[in-house]
Amino acid sequence: MEIKRIPRHVSIIMDGNGRWAKQRGKERIYGHFEGAESVRACAEAAVEEGVRYLSLFAFSEENWGRPEEEVMKLMDLMMDSIKNEVGTFMDNDIRFLVLGNRARLSPSLNKAIDGLEQMTAGNDRMTMIIFLSYSGKWDILQAAKKLALRYKDDPEGLDSLEIKDFDNYLVTAGIPDPDLLIRTSGEERISNYLLWQCAYTEFYFTDILWPDFRKNEFRAALEEYAQRDRRYGKVK
Ligand code: IPE
Ligand code: IPE
Ligand code: MG
Repeated sequence: MEIKRIPRHVSIIMDGNGRWAKQRGKERIYGHFEGAESVRACAEAAVEEGVRYLSLFAFSEENWGRPEEEVMKLMDLMMDSIKNEVGTFMDNDIRFLVLGNRARLSPSLNKAIDGLEQMTAGNDRMTMIIFLSYSGKWDILQAAKKLALRYKDDPEGLDSLEIKDFDNYLVTAGIPDPDLLIRTSGEERISNYLLWQCAYTEFYFTDILWPDFRKNEFRAALEEYAQRDRRYGKVK
């Protein structure tokens, strides 16, 4: 089926891995492994449909509060994915970016991320952004701190600052705001994700758990998006 009006930027809150595993009587980490397959499937579907930016909420600042074993295994999974998926990024011409509070990640993970970011920097069919150790309030605060420093001796400059200028201090500087935000697993909340950037984003909620969210489910979300009427407060 042909899909009209493709969103430029699709973002996903990948949720429900733990419940998926529990339903099968397995450890939570098993759901995270299976979820990694959904990442690959959705990345391929996004490239095929002409989406230019695919961003994925992989680990929130709040997720550091999970049991240490789960956190460690999630970080190991991230490390393994970076090492094993180099070919996927190069073959599909995908640029890789990680955004979030990078200072909280281990030096070895940061090094691996830097390596893949540099290797894929010239790829331009699609940009895949992984939000890692990210929260929306953290992002707004770090932007405000950078701004305070930048303008501490320039009150007039500060006075003439506009909304689009503030965008440039967020970690998403240069990346268009999401057109479509998908959240899986039946939860209907933003969980401190892209608070500033989702001001006019279309939301799509589905009961499907993330490990079951594959190409067909991704395409169904795009079809629904194509039916939405985006008015931005105006009258048609
Ligand atoms: C999403 O699945 C993955 C992360 C938040 C890291 P969950 O681990 O939150 O799975 P549920 O919500 O407990 O089922
Ligand atoms: C949101 O999922 C964070 C990610 C998907 C990375 P959570 O499972 O952590 O969110 P809550 O706790 O249900 O809001
Ligand atoms: Mg969850």
